[in-house]
Amino acid sequence: MTTPKLRLGVNIDHVATLRNARGSAWPDPLRAALLAEAAGADGITAHLREDRRHIRDGDMDALRAGIGIPLNFECGATAEMQAIALRLKPHAVCLVPEKREERTTEGGLDVAGDDNRLATYIAPLRDAGCRVSMFISHDPRQIEASARIGAAVVELHTGLYSDLHAEGREAEAEAEAELQALREGAALAHSLGLEVHAGHGLTYDNVGPIAAIPELVELNIGHFLMGEAVFLGLGPAIEEMRRLMDLARAG
Ligand code: PXP
Repeated sequence: MTTPKLRLGVNIDHVATLRNARGSAWPDPLRAALLAEAAGADGITAHLREDRRHIRDGDMDALRAGIGIPLNFECGATAEMQAIALRLKPHAVCLVPEKREERTTEGGLDVAGDDNRLATYIAPLRDAGCRVSMFISHDPRQIEASARIGAAVVELHTGLYSDLHAEGREAEAEAEAELQALREGAALAHSLGLEVHAGHGLTYDNVGPIAAIPELVELNIGHFLMGEAVFLGLGPAIEEMRRLMDLARAG
């Protein structure tokens, strides 16, 4: 199969985390998004959590109005978020499971266990022209359910792979097995007509094998890039990720 250039979606949530730590107006997530755009990002992702711990409603409005690349609105599948998405009409809406106690999105969405509700939930978003994405594990049941309910995209959760990779030699075999399951999940999703994305926990060290999965069209990366931005600057940090993704893609 052909391997199109992999899109890089930059998640700017943690610029807002830093801003909110001091209750000031800076650093500004929109400014980060514009810098990311200038550095070659193909899209901007922002997660409006129920508790507004990082991105706030005003940030979403500013991003929607201010950026020139696609906006991926990440949210829980609640009535409140559906209404916001229908008002904003972003390019994409990525549905994630959300628990108040978690530090970050810890697992994938249970599409198979909530398929009737989610089918009804996504219909108006699709009708409004948004590409609806399900953030799921590589479990074939979740992939098949996402196709069945009419999602356009699945984003495969790479968090476990990233954690295992970080453990080094101790967990090498487990990391490889998880990578293989992600490869098989991507192939299955593609065969069902879904566009396939991936993300969570990706870094310069672990992105290569993920970027090399041919069915993948987009990676969404946030926390690591914002950390690297402290040392390198946001533009160079993104450019390096872009370089590593292209390198892995080239074979
Ligand atoms: N994709 C989704 C659906 C996410 O929830 C997150 C985290 O907000 C990411 C990608 C990016 O993960 P990270 O910040 O670990 O790069």
